[in-house]
Amino acid sequence: MRHLMNPMDFSVEELDRLFDLAADIEKNPEKYAHKCTGKKLATCFYEPSTRTRLSFETAMLNLGGSVIGFSDAGSSSASKGESVSDTIRVISCFADICAMRHPKEGAPMVAASHSTIPVINAGDGGHQHPTQTLTDLLTIRSLKGRLDNFTIGICGDLKFGRTVHSLVNALSRYSGIRFVFISPEELRIPGYLREKLWDNALTFEEVIRLEDVMGKLDLLYMTRVQRERFFNEEDYVRLKDFYILNKDKMALAKPDCLILHPLPRVNEISVEVDKDPRAVYFKQVQYGVYVRMALILTLLDLA
Ligand code: CP
Repeated sequence: MRHLMNPMDFSVEELDRLFDLAADIEKNPEKYAHKCTGKKLATCFYEPSTRTRLSFETAMLNLGGSVIGFSDAGSSSASKGESVSDTIRVISCFADICAMRHPKEGAPMVAASHSTIPVINAGDGGHQHPTQTLTDLLTIRSLKGRLDNFTIGICGDLKFGRTVHSLVNALSRYSGIRFVFISPEELRIPGYLREKLWDNALTFEEVIRLEDVMGKLDLLYMTRVQRERFFNEEDYVRLKDFYILNKDKMALAKPDCLILHPLPRVNEISVEVDKDPRAVYFKQVQYGVYVRMALILTLLDLA
């Protein structure tokens, strides 16, 4: 039995197989429509979500399986003090696989260590968000045709952004990746990640102004400044609109520079950018369903 806690849990070769499967699912959805008949997915979300939870549920329904779960800790027995380890023992009696989101870093890992079914980390605090990374990688591979040799700008909340931490880790394994980290001083990438990049001799730079680097990017990954991770409202208010990608900034970008965003968006991408063919963040959501279908099949050994 296998869990997914971190994108690095899969080797590059395993990821290639997963993405090939996701691409086949996209082309031939009918082939997979009954693969999970009789199987149940539990979505245990202790923190709000629109995309990840509904994407997992859609994935399982598309595979012919069914879904149980809760979308709010307050409606689960966590509100009565039940531990994650007890909850997963119970969920293991009901479902075949579980996707868990939790505000505490490491909570899905605790669940996995007490589970008799595969557990997928659907986002844990500011730590990791591996299935968002699988979504991001599949989007890049599908739309750029490769996962190597590009310059990627990652902009916004690089300190608390779990999607950023997972993506940087995952992309670090591909050759010719040049990272440009764009953030205010207070939201720079964590020290451990910077050290890892140094240790692996990866190419990266850290800048504050998006305009200064826009023209050299093959991909721009925008992120939201996350109110829920800040310790005080004053800092959040000061930083929340630090970056706003608009038409003027898009005019500085390469003609084939793709704009990704894990979503939800607040103000960091102006809605006027949505019509630009380089803005692919809603396509990215669709790729999230294909890759989660492929992941469910893989972890249930039904691929
Ligand atoms: N990208 C993402 O995790 O979105 P949700 O918080 O809506 O699941």
